[in-house]
Amino acid sequence: MTNRRKRIVLAYSGGLDTTVAVRWLKGRGYDVIAYLADVGQESDFTKIRQRAKKAGACEVIIDDLKRVFVDDFIFPALKAGAAYENKYLLATALSRPLIAMGLVNAAKKSGAQYVAHGCTGKGNDQVRFELSVKMLAPHLSVIAPVREWELVSRDQEIRYAKTHRLPIDVTKKSPYSLDKNLWGVSIEAGALEDPWHEVPRDAYQLTRDSHKAPSKAAVMEIYFKKGIPKRLNGNGLDGVKLIEKLNSVASKYGIGRADLVENRLVGIKSREIYEAPAATVLYSAHEALENLVLDRETFHFKNGIAAKYGELVYYGLWYTPLKKALDKFIDETQKRVTGYVKVKLERGALSVIGRRSDYSLYNKELATYGDDDIFDQSLAKGFIDLWGMPYTAIGKKGK
Ligand code: ARG
Repeated sequence: MTNRRKRIVLAYSGGLDTTVAVRWLKGRGYDVIAYLADVGQESDFTKIRQRAKKAGACEVIIDDLKRVFVDDFIFPALKAGAAYENKYLLATALSRPLIAMGLVNAAKKSGAQYVAHGCTGKGNDQVRFELSVKMLAPHLSVIAPVREWELVSRDQEIRYAKTHRLPIDVTKKSPYSLDKNLWGVSIEAGALEDPWHEVPRDAYQLTRDSHKAPSKAAVMEIYFKKGIPKRLNGNGLDGVKLIEKLNSVASKYGIGRADLVENRLVGIKSREIYEAPAATVLYSAHEALENLVLDRETFHFKNGIAAKYGELVYYGLWYTPLKKALDKFIDETQKRVTGYVKVKLERGALSVIGRRSDYSLYNKELATYGDDDIFDQSLAKGFIDLWGMPYTAIGKKGK
């Protein structure tokens, strides 16, 4: 037996749980590397770095993953139209496999045999982190302090922090549990636990109440290339900037709120509030463009895939063979999804008001009721007779 200390990389957020976790792990004989992925949560990273150090971390890594998050996680989900239970645009769920990848890379670099996260035993995020680690680096062991320790309440954690002189910030704690990144905010707990209770105003972190939105509507033009948004009002922007810009405009109009009772992977229902202003605008615009350029069968089939893709993301199955196969399918469908969409933002309301594309399958001469109509209506009778033949047979049976 050597008495060398074990080395562990902890997914650190700067909050109470993970700050206590640094100290707790240290007490169990680990050298703790605090790893923080910047996925657009806009925290005070300087302060967080100091906090992790003061709590006892031997090293702090702050990893800017915004770009990878957008290119390799957010945009594939956007192209797929992925949503969970039709409403949740998956901001938190998409970030987990990426953060897990960051943890794994940090563990490899530092020679750590362990990784840790601050998730509870009741949520989805523990599953997402751990499944991702199993797939990316099965030799690593995962420790989940919050699931193991004897600190069963927030008050006990605060007491632990005080006893061990940990630098925590208890005064500013929101009554809700929050997770924020570039793609949106997830809000739960506190007053939200009663599903009959209207969401208190103070729960919303990003979006303005619609009655406080500007009275003048905003029209924005979004250009997509192969399903990926590239320009806003004619200005070419990289994905991170484009999402930041859309978030700032759409949140002022109160766009992108969702309130749902969702089926968690671990078998319970929970009331969740989401704010995803940019995501909501981009999903609508992207779908409107697909509607213009995709043939009916592809468009309908893809809708089913969107729901499945959403489940895979939600269930933490990002690195699985099925997800990879679906990406290939989605990319095939996106070859023609190039063109412009105009959206209008009004107090709390979003509408697509125009779309155009060189790949448009819309044919005005076929659709029009005007003089230039070229649709041969005489063909319709034969079409209906043949297509309806089996139903005529059923009708004749009388039941
Ligand atoms: N229910 C959401 C999900 O499973 C959000 C979870 C994290 N939310 C939070 N407030 N910490 O993806």
